[in-house]
Amino acid sequence: MIADFQNWSQSRQVRIETFLEERLPVADCAPERLHHAMRYAVLGGGKRVRPLLSFAAGELSNADEMRVTAVGAAVELIHAYSLVHDDLPCMDDDVLRRGKPTCHVAYDEATALLTGDSLQSLAFQLLAEQCLADSAQIQLEMIKLLAQASGSRGMAGGQAVDLASVGKSLNLPELEFMHIHKTGALIRAAVMLGARCGGQLHNEQLSSLDHFAKCVGLAFQVVDDVLDAEATTATLGKTAGKDADNGKPTYVSILGVSQARELAEKLRRDAFQSLDTFGTEAARLKQVTDFIIQREF
Ligand code: IPE
Ligand code: IPE
Ligand code: MG
Ligand code: MG
Ligand code: MG
Repeated sequence: MIADFQNWSQSRQVRIETFLEERLPVADCAPERLHHAMRYAVLGGGKRVRPLLSFAAGELSNADEMRVTAVGAAVELIHAYSLVHDDLPCMDDDVLRRGKPTCHVAYDEATALLTGDSLQSLAFQLLAEQCLADSAQIQLEMIKLLAQASGSRGMAGGQAVDLASVGKSLNLPELEFMHIHKTGALIRAAVMLGARCGGQLHNEQLSSLDHFAKCVGLAFQVVDDVLDAEATTATLGKTAGKDADNGKPTYVSILGVSQARELAEKLRRDAFQSLDTFGTEAARLKQVTDFIIQREF
């Protein structure tokens, strides 16, 4: 089972890497420095968890793999942009990402800003130029879904709450609001977009899947908070202990490590329960969820 998941995820990671490799502008095309930085921020690193969720969700609706590759890559580009901006001195001020100097350290702040901007635009370009669904109307709904998940009512909004919360002690609903937006929104988009590449699911199935995705999105950030407190910089490929240093409220600062881990387990059970409505087609989604909860980096 474990070897089977490894083979499955590795082959999808390679597919995403190849697709991104081909779609990112070549580095020797002007403006070279920006194109170089875009490739630096995206290629050759990262767990590619969001595209894996898209592929696994696509199995519920028999989705075409080329379509899922495009949506997975688009979500990954938004994610990479969010990381480049998250690391800037005006945000978390981090120097290490995916085991390498952060984009603004390797290049400069202005280039990092433009890299994020350009990766976001490229994500939407990919969604617009490739057939993703059986009807143009569904495709438009999918593009809107990613736009909402990325913007002020999604990831960017969550990042704004994160920055406004430095040095404060949030209560649990406030912390949940922040995490659901800054991390959960894109994870939810990855799942829903993957499923929507295939045949139409019933409304009840779509809302079960949406509940699954919300639980996994929150669990992802709970585990990220735990790893920030418990893992080493070498394992993470990013600076450990940064949340406490930056005065960020997290699930660890509010609940402690062991209760935060319990919460991740509870969210896993809740997520699995909402997959009951699907049959064995949901097996991959469960495996990716376990990977997210049990990961060490
Ligand atoms: C890190 O995301 C940032 C968060 C949203 C918590 P990942 O842990 O998915 O980072 P990569 O893509 O594997 O580097
Ligand atoms: C980042 O959360 C979330 C986004 C980039 C949207 P964190 O600030 O906790 O991510 P890391 O720990 O730097 O990867
Ligand atoms: Mg941050
Ligand atoms: Mg950060
Ligand atoms: Mg973190």
